[in-house]
Amino acid sequence: MISGETNVVGLIGDPVKHSISPQIHNSAFRELGLDYVYVAFRVSSNNLADSIRGIKSLEIDGINVTIPHKSAIITELDEVHETAKKIGAVNTIKKTEKGLKGFNTDGIGVLKSLKERIGGLKNKKILLLGAGGAARAISFILAEKGVELTISNRTVSKGEELANEIENETKSKVSHIPQEKKAMAEEIKSSDILINSTSVGMHPKVDETLVESEDMHSELVVMDIVYNPLKTRLLEEAEKAGAETISGLGMLVYQGAASFEIWIDEEPPIKIMKEAARKALEGKRK
Ligand code: ATR
Repeated sequence: MISGETNVVGLIGDPVKHSISPQIHNSAFRELGLDYVYVAFRVSSNNLADSIRGIKSLEIDGINVTIPHKSAIITELDEVHETAKKIGAVNTIKKTEKGLKGFNTDGIGVLKSLKERIGGLKNKKILLLGAGGAARAISFILAEKGVELTISNRTVSKGEELANEIENETKSKVSHIPQEKKAMAEEIKSSDILINSTSVGMHPKVDETLVESEDMHSELVVMDIVYNPLKTRLLEEAEKAGAETISGLGMLVYQGAASFEIWIDEEPPIKIMKEAARKALEGKRK
């Protein structure tokens, strides 16, 4: 029951209607009996600065930030966590004594989702497809874990730039290959993990994939950050090749859980949050 004491957290972005973060977080609050509510606020880019003043004046405890504000929000904040600064994007804000502080939990989501299935990542050879906002968050955190990272992006210059930037920032070696069938197939032969961090395969273009089964192998782990649909064409191709698959659901839930931990001093109920996410995604398809 919402009362005068209920704490409000939420999301700012544009659009936000499609977001399933409210279902994920509110299920966790219910499970733990916490007097919190999570709401989605549509904020257009020209109202971003005003929304920050609103968050402060209404004393909202925590906010998630999504497209298109993840980068633009940085200059509006009082403090930004080191990792979020490197990535150049914030997806979580917390009220502190100094004002508002920004964090980025997108990479943590992928890291935890991978670790849950395959344990340690040190020295694993990973091919990451994409060089956009999501790829930046993922590649920074993976490089810090001592993996052997290769980036492949449709726009070659962007992929190269990201690879160079990560090398400079993390001192770990990052390679780059063109996003061509032959080059990717050759790279995958010696890779342990393949991650798609592009939007390829996302609803409604569900028949698209950047890699097909003939270029995969049964020792490979294939992860997709696309979660609508949960079983993307890429993951279907991976199954055909006998590879292990990890859907975008884990990443989605773990990045939310990491935000939850930043706001609230309680262990997030991962299982309940996963169930809520799955149910919300199923509801969308009806
Ligand atoms: P996000 O923040 O979700 O990562 P983004 O920053 O717009 O979104 O990045 C989208 C990524 O998907 C980019 O790597 C993009 O490749 P380009 O840099 O060449 O644009 C990639 N992408 C989108 N559509 C693609 C397609 N049809 N084929 C290959 N890559 C695609």
